[in-house]
Parts: sequence; structure tokens; C-alpha cells
Amino acid sequence: MNKKIIKNKNIILCVSGSIAAYKSIYLSSLLVKEGANVQVILTESAKNFVGESSFSGITHNPVITGYYDSKTSLSIDHIDIAKKADVILVAPATANIIAKIALGISSDPIVGSILASKAPVIIAPAMDGDMFKSEQVQKNITELIGFNYYISGPEKGRLASGMNEFGRMSEPDILFEEIISIFSKKKDYEKVEAIVTAGGTIEEIDPVRYISNKSSGKMGIEIAKALRDRGASVTLIHGKIDSAEETQGIKKIFTKSAIEMKNTIDNLVDKCQIIIMSAAVSDYKVKNISKEKIKKDSLDYIQLEKNPDILKGIDGSKIAKVGFAAESENLLINAKKKLSSKDCKIIVANDITLEGSGFGSDNNKAVIVDLDGEESFPLMSKSKLAHKILDRAKKFID
Ligand code: CTP
Repeated sequence: MNKKIIKNKNIILCVSGSIAAYKSIYLSSLLVKEGANVQVILTESAKNFVGESSFSGITHNPVITGYYDSKTSLSIDHIDIAKKADVILVAPATANIIAKIALGISSDPIVGSILASKAPVIIAPAMDGDMFKSEQVQKNITELIGFNYYISGPEKGRLASGMNEFGRMSEPDILFEEIISIFSKKKDYEKVEAIVTAGGTIEEIDPVRYISNKSSGKMGIEIAKALRDRGASVTLIHGKIDSAEETQGIKKIFTKSAIEMKNTIDNLVDKCQIIIMSAAVSDYKVKNISKEKIKKDSLDYIQLEKNPDILKGIDGSKIAKVGFAAESENLLINAKKKLSSKDCKIIVANDITLEGSGFGSDNNKAVIVDLDGEESFPLMSKSKLAHKILDRAKKFID
């Protein structure tokens, strides 16, 4: 982690009214220690939890608390700091401020600054677990993701209510790292053409029934987004996925069956430098798909035949191949076998039996294996893991 990168950066730290506000005092200190110029905006309700003088003492900047109480030498505080900002962080972000940001209700300088700025925005929600899960908050969070804002956390842990749920603000160290990662965001995949596959394929039995699997496509979507953010031109070839995910700037092609996915890949593969196969491809397809709905009395068995192994069939000397290995036992042994049998540069191996990891989850715990060895990662967001995979894969397309 290159901490020096935040030296002299203008960071707006927006603090809204949550018990977690005390953590932001420590965060402001971490940032100032590394030479950042931190400008704090406090909402009225945040003042019930933390004092202006704590922040002004640490940041050596006056704290903005409203539109009309100018404390700086600037002409219009919130606009001036917004124009200069390199990043805006809202931590803690209550349900109230999240809703206001989502709708652009600029009744306080936090929203005013965000609207007036082109800087990246990080939102660190902090609230009761059920509040966070509520439809309204989730809808607003989806809006914010659509604006390309980064959502950090919330984490699972003990809340002010005593409950142990998702609602705790990300720890200051994590937010500090996220700010650094924004500044160090590489464009190291610029001019790279990439294919990512995601989701589960669908093998029809008859017009009503099909065979598929539990894949949500989240991992592949996060990889496609990470590639896009790092400058690549990305085609996401997908089966069944969660369509609510934000995928701006990514070319999406829906393919139903494994054969359709294979044909689509074969048409594109020659102009690409990397393919990351996170799709859960059905190993078998139905031998004789019935045009009519099969009556239940005639459905005693389904005859299957093997699908082609798409990844194996791609020429690994022409494109960097990254495969996945979904395993429930002997993770490393199986991953290494797949690395050589499928002629991949990297295999990302998941233990699908681990709780909170794998299919459908937002998090994943993986081991990345290549010929140089293996690297085991702790449970982390699929978005973070996507970047780890790209960090490792870069050497194969240079
Ligand atoms: N894969 C593929 N075509 C298939 C099956 C899998 O391209 N017909 C790809 C997957 O996208 C993944 C990798 O191969 O990147 C490994 O998939 P996985 O399901 O873990 O292994 P399989 O090869 O299907 O073998 P097994 O089910 O025996 O573990």
C-alpha cells in the first residue's frame, strides 16, 4: 500500500449523525498524518455525537456545518471545496443522508458538495441492520452504485442496539485503504480486449423445464467491472445472472446454453488478449430436447450427453486463459490439475462449501494458483477479489 499517494490530496470527509461518527475522528487523523488536506463537513445531527473542535484540531481546517455559517476564507465554502476535492468520503453515512444523496436533495452542504464535484465519492453506511436491509435503503444504495459511487461496507458486527448484524461502519483502516486504492487506481488494462463469462448456463429439457446451477454471476460481473475500471474493453458473455447489477460501459451478450456460449466465445476470441471464465458451465446437456412439454408420466429419465469443455478448447498460446475451479474437497490439488489440463495461466479456486462465500454471496474466499505458486486470500468482497485476480493476471498479457 503506497500511503504517500495521498500527500497533498484534498479530501472532503462528510460526517452524518451516527454513533459511528467517533471513528471518523481517527480516520481524519490517519489521513492528516499522511499529508492529506482534510476538510470536514458535519451535519447538524452529527454534532450530537462528535464536536467540531475534535476535527478542526486534527485537520487544522475549519469545519463546515451549514450553508450560511462561513468559517473559511473561501467565497462559498461547499462549492469551493467541492471543486478542489480529489475524493469525497461520507462516513458514517446514515439512511437519511444516503436518501438525500440518492435524490440530490441538497439541503445540507454534504449533498451540495457532492453535486458540485466531479471527484470520486465513497459512501460508508452505518445504521441498524434491518434499516440497512430495508427496501428503501437498498433502493437508494442501488442508485448510488449507478452513479459510480463506491459503497464501503457496512460490516457485520455488534451494533449500538446490541444486535450482531450488517450495519457497522467500515473500520477507519479499511476506509483509509479504499481512499488509497482510489488514488492508485491503475489503468493497467488500457487497450486490452477482454472476454469475461458469468452466470450459469441453461440446458433445456423441454419448453418448460431446464437444467442449470446456483451461479449468480456476481463474481464474473465484478471482474468485468474491474477490467472496465482499469481501462479494458470488456465483453461479458453470460448465462443466468442477477440483472440488477450495474454494468455501464460493458458489452453484454446473453447466451443460454453451453454450446451458445462456446460459439459466441469462438467468434470473439481471436481479437482478445484475455478470457476469464467464471461462468458455471453445465457439464452435460439434454440429448433430445423435446419440442413439446413432456408429460409427467413420460418423464422417468432424461438422457444426457457431455457438453464441450469451452475453456479447454481455447488455444492458450493465443490468449491468456483464466479459469475457475469450484471445489468441495481437495481444493488445491484439483485447482492445480485444472491449471494444467485446461492449459490456463491462472486458476481461481473456491471452496464452495464455505459459509458466506461462493454462489450467490457478495463475498468470496479464494486461492489463486498459477505456475509460480499459489496465493490464498481471506474472505473478501467479490469486487476486491476481482482486482486481486487482475493484479495477478496482468503479467500474462504484457
Ligand atoms: N468450464 C468450461 N466448460 C465446461 C465446464 C467448465 O469452460 N463445460 C470452465 C469453467 O468456466 C471454469 C473451469 O472450466 O472456469 C472449471 O470449471 P469447474 O466446474 O470447476 O470444473 P469442471 O471442468 O466442470 O470439472 P469438475 O466438474 O469435474 O470439477
